[in-house]
Amino acid sequence: MRPPHPVYESLIRITNESHAGWRFFLGTFYSRFMNESPEIRDMFDGIDIERQIQMLQISLQAILHVGSQSDIPIGFEELAEKHGPDGLNVQVRHFHMWMNCFLATVEELDPDCDSRTMKAWRHALQTGIDYMVRLSGVAGESRVFE
Ligand code: HEM
Repeated sequence: MRPPHPVYESLIRITNESHAGWRFFLGTFYSRFMNESPEIRDMFDGIDIERQIQMLQISLQAILHVGSQSDIPIGFEELAEKHGPDGLNVQVRHFHMWMNCFLATVEELDPDCDSRTMKAWRHALQTGIDYMVRLSGVAGESRVFE
């Protein structure tokens, strides 16, 4: 049984726990993220967005898991490495953009979103992203958010 948690409650309202709901949620996020800057759009140039959405759904569940537990889920280290200096070379500022776009999408699509919900989302994502940055060895940073 999953414990009741503002983030999971918000996810259920947003996605209705349906495939179409998840697709719409993460599709909306990616549109927003790619419109954020030409640099981001270029990074995703030629990438299969449907596959990307599926992968993000899986990794988001891993991120939320990191946010609520102390162990690192299987596959997370590889994901972090892929984004690190020897891979996509994602920078700290990109993680900030990612987070801001994600939170803006939650705010847009969760009909019952309040400050408690947003705080819980921010906290869960921050913990996950901090893990990812630490594991990926993004230059000079151990924490993205203070
Ligand atoms: C916590 C935040 C993030 C999560 C959970 C995440 C998750 C993922 C996942 C699951 C994949 C697919 C990996 C695979 O195909 O094996 C991926 C790929 C990718 N991510 Fe991220 N990502 C995050 C942040 C970012 C940021 C900040 C950027 C910067 C622009 C970024 C850019 C990309 C790109 C360009 C790919 C495509 C790689 C490819 O297929 O060639 N990601 N990400």
